[in-house]
Amino acid sequence: MRVKTFTIPLQTSIILFITTILLLFPTHHQAKNNLPISATDAAAILPPLQDLLLFADQRLAAIYPVIQRFKNTITSDPFNVTATWTGSNICRYKGFFCDTPPDNRSATTVASIDFNGFHLSSPTLVGFLDELPDLALFHANSNYFSGAFPSSIAALPYLYELDLSNNRLSGPFPTAILAMDGLSFLDIRSVPDQGCYSLKQQHPWSAVPPELFAMDLDLLFLNNNNFMTRLPDNADADAHVAYLNLANNKFFGPIPRSIAKALSGLSEILLLNNLLSGCLPYELGLLKDAVVFDAGGNDLTGPLPFSLGCLEKLEVLNLAGNKLYGQVPEPLCLLGNLRNVSLSGNYFMGAAPACMRLIAAGVMDVRGNCIPGQPLQRPVADCAAFMARPKYCPYSDTYSKIPCWIPQFGPSIRGVAKR
Ligand SMILES: *[C@@H]1O[C@H](CO)[C@@H](O)[C@H](O)[C@H]1NC(C)=O
Ligand SMILES: *[C@@H]1O[C@H](CO)[C@@H](O)[C@H](O)[C@H]1NC(C)=O
Ligand SMILES: *[C@@H]1O[C@H](CO)[C@@H](O)[C@H](O)[C@H]1NC(C)=O
Repeated sequence: MRVKTFTIPLQTSIILFITTILLLFPTHHQAKNNLPISATDAAAILPPLQDLLLFADQRLAAIYPVIQRFKNTITSDPFNVTATWTGSNICRYKGFFCDTPPDNRSATTVASIDFNGFHLSSPTLVGFLDELPDLALFHANSNYFSGAFPSSIAALPYLYELDLSNNRLSGPFPTAILAMDGLSFLDIRSVPDQGCYSLKQQHPWSAVPPELFAMDLDLLFLNNNNFMTRLPDNADADAHVAYLNLANNKFFGPIPRSIAKALSGLSEILLLNNLLSGCLPYELGLLKDAVVFDAGGNDLTGPLPFSLGCLEKLEVLNLAGNKLYGQVPEPLCLLGNLRNVSLSGNYFMGAAPACMRLIAAGVMDVRGNCIPGQPLQRPVADCAAFMARPKYCPYSDTYSKIPCWIPQFGPSIRGVAKR
């Protein structure tokens, strides 16, 4: 990041300095009935000459007290980061990065903050994060910031990356961020199995507002937060999320059929370890940029749609630990980029020839199913009991539809696709 320095006329510097001193010590000045400040008073108030605060820009002077105030709220700083937060050269403070703001190309300001891994503790980010008007990026993964989510950051005009993952924030989902048009990166995941969430929910059932999925984000990470809500069916939405991670929450209900329309640019879709149920929608095959699709450890059922064979970029597919059944379909197994397909712990009863080759090659894992002739399958009685249960998937005619042309595939399937 570029740091601009420029000389400030001496007079301006002194005014800036005095202003800062007055900002920091407002009461000292008034204490002596407006008498001129004596030399001894001045010595008491003013730091030694070498500590004079000469700021490279008035924007830095303006946020200096904000940073110092925040520094005073920090209760733990194991890496002594805040020891560098002294003096006027804010651009050299550890974790702070300066750049020119979009509205004045000759100014210098704090444009980004990276506290990742600093392990700082503070009871609140309110009064800090929301008081840095030119901030574009805030990354604070793995700290111990608590208190409410600083909702007033919604007013920061340039903020587009917000990473508060693995912190100790609490309170309801900050709906204010839904109004942040410029936001493209929202990460409030937690580290799993630590008993704390980035955003501890007081009312988990109303946790995630459906509008969140309609925002124009590139990245949305909400994993490991105990969010308990139905995946919204935003049929009209046209979001551009590329990386979606909802893993390890309590999202429930079916994977919405509108997913492809709403999230067409998705390249990583992580839905693992939730409470998703129902059948896989045919529309999953329209997520043409998907490289990773992981919905393992849910309660999904039904057969695999043939449309999955259209996910040309797919490398990793994990559907292990669900209640899927039927035959693993040939179109899926003809995909050229598959590296790891995990279907273990379902009730599949067979696999098409191309799939058998993937199993033999160790690319596809079908342990714990009901496939005759394969090792480590479920007991026959389990399989029989499962098969005997009534099953129903809506839109069953879509399961053999293929919304793309698969060259290796015979004309029969193509005929199905045209039906
Ligand atoms: C931080 O500073 C304290 C006291 O100055 C010192 O004891 C400690 O070793 C320092 N820790 C690191 C990681 O530098
Ligand atoms: C742009 O920033 C410079 C440096 O802080 C300042 O001197 C100048 O007045 C600013 N221009 C405007 C139009 O605000
Ligand atoms: C394949 O994916 C499964 C499930 O995501 C994972 O447990 C396994 O370690 C992966 N295997 C390889 C070889 O990457």
